[in-house]
Amino acid sequence: MLSKRLVSPAARSAHADPVGSLELKTLAGKAGPSVVHSFKGRVAVVTGSSRGIGLGIARELVGRGAKVCLTARNAEPLAEAVRDLGGPENAIAVAGKADDPAHQEEAVARTLEAFGRLDHLVNNTGINPVYGPVLETEEAAAAKIMAVNVLGPLAWTRRAHAAWMGEHGGSVVNVASIAGIRASLGIGMYGVSKAALIRLTTELGAELGPQGIRVNAVAPAVVKTKFAEALYEGREEKVAKAYPLGRLGVPEDIAGAVAFLLSPAADWITGQTLVVDGGVTLGGGL
Ligand SMILES: NC(=O)c1ccc[n+]([C@@H]2O[C@H](COP(=O)([O-])OP(=O)(O)OC[C@H]3O[C@@H](n4cnc5c(N)ncnc54)[C@H](OP(=O)(O)O)[C@@H]3O)[C@@H](O)[C@H]2O)c1
Repeated sequence: MLSKRLVSPAARSAHADPVGSLELKTLAGKAGPSVVHSFKGRVAVVTGSSRGIGLGIARELVGRGAKVCLTARNAEPLAEAVRDLGGPENAIAVAGKADDPAHQEEAVARTLEAFGRLDHLVNNTGINPVYGPVLETEEAAAAKIMAVNVLGPLAWTRRAHAAWMGEHGGSVVNVASIAGIRASLGIGMYGVSKAALIRLTTELGAELGPQGIRVNAVAPAVVKTKFAEALYEGREEKVAKAYPLGRLGVPEDIAGAVAFLLSPAADWITGQTLVVDGGVTLGGGL
């Protein structure tokens, strides 16, 4: 059974309808109905999803009826995440390195084996193993960042395309970063990789649109996960002051935006990057 806490408030109050149809719901305290898209009958691969933003995205999709394949390097947290999502009826997990071709191939094959299709791909895995100026980033570290953050999403998309989407269509969301749209001192090489991912999103959006495949991205600011701990731990209130919406992000903030871009609600949107940042890039102040 799906545990209650993994279902977002929006999905929880909705009626499930057949594949790809709308779910009508009424938001408590708001006049009139609004619309949430069901993912019932849909299947997604979400990379880097044993915790943090990836798990938040998987939770949102399963909460709306999707089956998901989770990936990460470590098997035990993955197994825990599968349990959290209601077990093998809703989710499978494949452990491996996101930039390893054999792992990519296995995850896609096992998804098709378990659930019979692959409608959505979320390229969420991203790494930032070094801090410091771009010129001081070791070449091996820079190459690894590009391999995981840029060539990884390209390879996963290629595999999803070959295995399912090229014939049946689908939608892809890449998890970029606001570091990819403005200078981010200290994490510059990571920013370069996320800028390349945003550009890859544009290119694939244009190339794959005629095949019925949409490719979009989200660009989050600081979201409270293990990955970003060093950026806010012990000084969250101070850091949040720069955010017009008054707080740092949580995985649910990103999950809702990703679900929107994957869903038919975004049927006429491709190649775009949606900034999800509490307003921090607006540049307020004098
Ligand atoms: N948090 C933020 O503030 C923030 C802001 C902007 C963008 N982002 C982006 O959001 C995405 C997710 O970040 P997060 O904050 O959710 O990170 P997180 O909480 O650290 O989670 C990362 C997930 O990816 C897996 N992973 C890490 N390296 C991997 C690799 N080489 N191969 C396969 N799996 C790997 C981790 O599991 P294992 O360790 O077991 O592999 C874990 O499941 C990243 O692309 C990041 O760049 C995050």
